[in-house]
Amino acid sequence: MTKRAWWKECVVYQIYPRSFYDSNGDGIGDLRGILQKLDYLKELGIDVIWLCPVYKSPNDDNGYDISDYQDIMDEFGTLADWEELLAEMHKRGIRLVMDLVVNHTSDEHPWFQESRRSRDNPYRDFYIWRPAKDGQEPNNWRSIFGGSAWQYDEQTGEYFLHLFSKRQPDLNWENPRVREEVYNMMDWWLQKGIDGFRMDVINLISKTPGLPDVPARTGDRYHFGGQYFVNGPRLMEFLTEMKQKVLSRYDVLTVGETPLVTTQDAIEITHEDTGALTMVFQFEHMDLSAETGGEVTTRKSSRLLDLKTVMSRWQEDLEGRAWNSIYLGNHDQPRSVSQFGDDGPYRVQSAKMLATFVHMLQGTPYVYQGDEIGMTNVAFESITEYRDVATRNMYQEAVEEKGLNPAEVLKVVHAKSRDNARTPVQWDSSEQAGFTTGTPWIKVNPNYEEINVAEAISDPSSVFHTYKKLIRLRRENPVIVYGRYDLLLASHAEIYAFTRTLDQDRLLIILNFSKNRPTFDLPEGISYSNTELLISNYEVDPNESLHQIVLRPYEARVYRLV
Ligand code: GLC
Ligand code: CA
Repeated sequence: MTKRAWWKECVVYQIYPRSFYDSNGDGIGDLRGILQKLDYLKELGIDVIWLCPVYKSPNDDNGYDISDYQDIMDEFGTLADWEELLAEMHKRGIRLVMDLVVNHTSDEHPWFQESRRSRDNPYRDFYIWRPAKDGQEPNNWRSIFGGSAWQYDEQTGEYFLHLFSKRQPDLNWENPRVREEVYNMMDWWLQKGIDGFRMDVINLISKTPGLPDVPARTGDRYHFGGQYFVNGPRLMEFLTEMKQKVLSRYDVLTVGETPLVTTQDAIEITHEDTGALTMVFQFEHMDLSAETGGEVTTRKSSRLLDLKTVMSRWQEDLEGRAWNSIYLGNHDQPRSVSQFGDDGPYRVQSAKMLATFVHMLQGTPYVYQGDEIGMTNVAFESITEYRDVATRNMYQEAVEEKGLNPAEVLKVVHAKSRDNARTPVQWDSSEQAGFTTGTPWIKVNPNYEEINVAEAISDPSSVFHTYKKLIRLRRENPVIVYGRYDLLLASHAEIYAFTRTLDQDRLLIILNFSKNRPTFDLPEGISYSNTELLISNYEVDPNESLHQIVLRPYEARVYRLV
């Protein structure tokens, strides 16, 4: 068995503050809004809140562009509000994980303001500046948000690197002063008593020296340069240093957002004994259906077999060596029920099935705000309703530069836009879903009259009550946290079944990922003399034999085998 740790036993709830709850009617969620909803979260039963960035920011990328790491964004409140929030959380036994965005800053950060002033400014080397090459950008890297990854700056006649928006210049981690500043800032927050960090695109901080051109595979002008900055040459050195200088002095949850990592990379970063972080967010399962490298597509792998292959590899490879994080959605992804389940007639059943999946795997579950009531994607009629910089850039590039059909591009936006997850949390059926008394910064999903927290709490058969029960079960049953995972029926195209085993304790998890009624046949070798049904999303006859079960659409059952 792997070693025990609080961050393995907890359930994390992710808050995207701008869309969570607005306490003062300006249409923007805020810290006092979160404060007012802590009892709701306590009721749900979660142990930890991961708070997306609340630092000072001009909001080009909703807080992922930070202009002051040690203060709070005006729209969200003050540092005093934040202190109060932390105290009230801790009073309720809820821990706080803050977002750490140190691959880049805002272009309004004083370091960058200094840096762009002159080529010999002491802060010049805090960022990555290069002269033009043959009258063009220093290399052919593409920004993850579209266009070149370089922005020309008139004042000094050079380009700076930005892997994301042009208002998010990349920090130069080669510079020891940058690292020192980052570590001091982290320590400042840890001293305030926070319980960990979620580290934004942390595996992009080390760039290959020389910043080479990407060998062109297509006629496009810019190309994804991941091979020169994903898990770059000094990544482990930097993370190890960060651990040594800061993290090792605290008992904290640290989760690295690490696009494109393999299980081997993840084991290196998070190894039980030698790792620098406690876990990472991997993206393989999300990339099965995601838009990759700026490609405009709705390609969707509806193949459960692919999902099983990916998840099983992560479960098995990390067993006893490192620790998984488990999630199906966040603020950058479409809604999980729309992407992996059915947001039509089987919304409730499939949302419960997916919740069961997330909570029954080995790893720390992350619940994204609104998923606990089965919130869905949204389909705004016009691109002008969208707020996300990545969505807007993608649309503009597709329509204006590539000349694609706007209606077709809008379909991609509907399926993939990050704003799907960023519409306000639907609290009740009153105007603006009870999110604000003013005009929300982004429109509410019109389905709020049917899907909202008030309704979910009052209906004992709602998605909310399934989440609540799953979280409680996890707390009561160490096998759910620590048990070994074994896949069953590996080649079944509709049923995802597995066992979890800890010493003598064994659970059987049966999930129907389809609208159909496939038959579950108990594999040979799984024996039991008695069963206990822990949770299900349909009525189940407690005496039903497990040898053959005709499953209903998106049915989920968890049994203890005794
Ligand atoms: C991460 C964040 C995303 C942000 C990007 C740049 O992927 O999750 O929201 O846009 O990094 O900071
Ligand atoms: Ca507000």
